[in-house]
Amino acid sequence: MATVCPVASLHQEANPSRLKVGSVKTLAESSNLTSIPSHYAFTTSASSDQAVHSDHDDSIPVIDFSLLSSSNPDQRHKVVSDLAKACQDWGFFMVINHGVPEGQMKAMVDMLMGFFDLTEEEKREFEGKHVLDGIRWGTSFNTSVDKVFFWRDYLKVRVHPKFHCPSKPEGFSEVLAEYVGVVRKLARGLLKGISESLGLEPGYIDEVMNMDSSLQRLTANLYPPCPQPELAMGMPPHSDHGLLTILMQNGIGGLQVHHGGKWVKIDPIPNAFLVNTGDHLEIMSNGKYKSVLHRAVVNNKDTRISIILSNGPSLDTVVTPAEQLVDGESNRAMYIGMKYKDFLELHQSSVLDGKSVLERVKI
Ligand code: OGA
Ligand code: NI
Repeated sequence: MATVCPVASLHQEANPSRLKVGSVKTLAESSNLTSIPSHYAFTTSASSDQAVHSDHDDSIPVIDFSLLSSSNPDQRHKVVSDLAKACQDWGFFMVINHGVPEGQMKAMVDMLMGFFDLTEEEKREFEGKHVLDGIRWGTSFNTSVDKVFFWRDYLKVRVHPKFHCPSKPEGFSEVLAEYVGVVRKLARGLLKGISESLGLEPGYIDEVMNMDSSLQRLTANLYPPCPQPELAMGMPPHSDHGLLTILMQNGIGGLQVHHGGKWVKIDPIPNAFLVNTGDHLEIMSNGKYKSVLHRAVVNNKDTRISIILSNGPSLDTVVTPAEQLVDGESNRAMYIGMKYKDFLELHQSSVLDGKSVLERVKI
């Protein structure tokens, strides 16, 4: 039987006297920047760390979302088995025919570019302090614990069950509300197919994860051009918490996925979403669908923006392996139960490092 893990001392700020840290955008825009400050320098990468393009016969899976609502049982069967394969082999897939209009995706990119273009002073108004604050603008990951800073500014906004949005730029909240609504539908549709692909009722995940009040969070990542991209890191290797992460970007590549022992470059495809399975899908599927390490590298020419919606259970859900997928013998439960909220706090107070938080709930 799953137990709830007590998580002590999560509420303390790691370093209350932390220095104010400026944004990477301001740094990148400062004149004559030809090298990066030393606290942005990662150790140089080993050759095993170099990224490759994916093989022709093993490229990132593509899921045609429209087939999940097909009235043709063969088509539905096919897309459910495509999902099973995608979740099991890659943990990352592209979604096409997702029904989100191109104009809506572009409006989000423009709005977020507009947000990052606000002055540093204007943005400071949205600097949250705690992982559960509705709006948090900042830089790196958690500047009070990061040992090396990442070449990335971010805006994180909780959009469900309660909707938050910065008051600037004008019109942001309309664009955001519409976008997160359609992406929530997409996430729930995909989770239905994923439930089925695990041999569960289509509505199983939706129900046990209390998706009516699911935590949905927007993260916009801004990666300004970097004079020494080979030394800096946009985001280090990590897995995502939650069930499904749905990402789009402004046509500039930088995402790499750990697959088959290598870092594989993921080229942006216009108007497609990139979806990956999170730690809580790994827990719920009892390790059948593993969350996958990914990272973001930076370049010296173009500003890249990625707009991510993470779709998790409700904050109060204690996530455990599905009862149907475990027994007392060969399929014993491999994870203890933990409330999503506790997991999140643990995540934010730790150094972003691979799957270290998930490791803590492994039996
Ligand atoms: C993230 C993430 C990758 C990217 O924000 O969790 O993995 O390409 N971002 O920005
Ligand atoms: Ni991620």
